[in-house]
Amino acid sequence: MTSFKENFVWILLITLCFFSHSSASYNPHRAEPATPKKLLYLLEPPLQVEVAGRRGDNVTLPCILRTKPNHYKIKWTKLESEHMGQQNVIMISNANAFKPYGHVGQRASLQRAHTMDASLLLSNVELGDDGRYRCELINGIEDENIVITLRIEGVVFPYQSKRGRYKFNFHEAKQACAEQDGILSTYNQLYRAWTEGLDWCNAGWIYDGTVHYPVVHPRPVCGGELPAGIRSYGPKDKNHDRFDAFCFTSQISGSVFYIFGSFSYDQAVHACKHQGSELALVGQLYAAWRFQKYDHCNGGWLKDGSVRFPIINPRKHCGGIPEAGVRSFGFPSKTAHLYGAYCYR
Ligand SMILES: *[C@@H]1O[C@H](CO)[C@@H](O)[C@H](O)[C@H]1NC(C)=O
Repeated sequence: MTSFKENFVWILLITLCFFSHSSASYNPHRAEPATPKKLLYLLEPPLQVEVAGRRGDNVTLPCILRTKPNHYKIKWTKLESEHMGQQNVIMISNANAFKPYGHVGQRASLQRAHTMDASLLLSNVELGDDGRYRCELINGIEDENIVITLRIEGVVFPYQSKRGRYKFNFHEAKQACAEQDGILSTYNQLYRAWTEGLDWCNAGWIYDGTVHYPVVHPRPVCGGELPAGIRSYGPKDKNHDRFDAFCFTSQISGSVFYIFGSFSYDQAVHACKHQGSELALVGQLYAAWRFQKYDHCNGGWLKDGSVRFPIINPRKHCGGIPEAGVRSFGFPSKTAHLYGAYCYR
């Protein structure tokens, strides 16, 4: 017969196991098993866990073999965040064949700098390529993988409808960013932009259908006395809820220039056309500001009908705000003869 004491210890042990197990399985942030399997074939940690590039660049996502199994395939996959659903296979390759899949596959190849090199070459990087990529070695026995993050270097800009604040449902926000040479920003991009000083007191849609706004200087009208940070409304109804948009763009292949004048909107269109160019998009002006250090203290028309100007070195008579940024006059009357033109060529 077991004593009461022994029984008690057993119950306690079982209870502890139960709790430790259940708390582990309820942790939504648990990314990897506690003790990851030691890899036999793939070099780990990888040479780089994060690779950065700009739109239009060619990048290499490293994946190196330490040992070769006799027969194996290499499979590269783009991992979408959990609530975005499917994972997209980019390519599968064995010793003799290379099969690309989908849109990213068209721009992908294996570097094969040597026999142990399974790194992915991705050419002409696009805004939507930002994210996590898995290199998988498949040999039918013990498949192995490593994950590399590709970070597109770029700039986040808030975008509001010309009809005013909070006019976009999710689909319209996505469209609005596309029309300004951008895409909806990811949470990571918005977070990084906040660390770089983005302070915007209107909530906007991001890529995954959630809504947020970044606050650098807490103030009563922007979420009260909470500390600086990203204020989040979480997921919203993509069809019926309306907000602004946070767009993301990166390097441009052309350049933005200014034409002095006191133009109406239509005159600004013609002024650019006369120079073999078009009025610039908002994303193009932000990209010129960020990547070409474009600084110009005069308001100018953009293609969407807004008037803006980019400032790198803040000065008193240029908007009066002590931080660098792209200033906006909103959407003035298109017949106001007050502004120059920002063109893109
Ligand atoms: C990128 O690679 C392609 C070939 O895949 C090449 O034609 C192009 O010149 C490269 N671009 C850059 C910026 O290196």
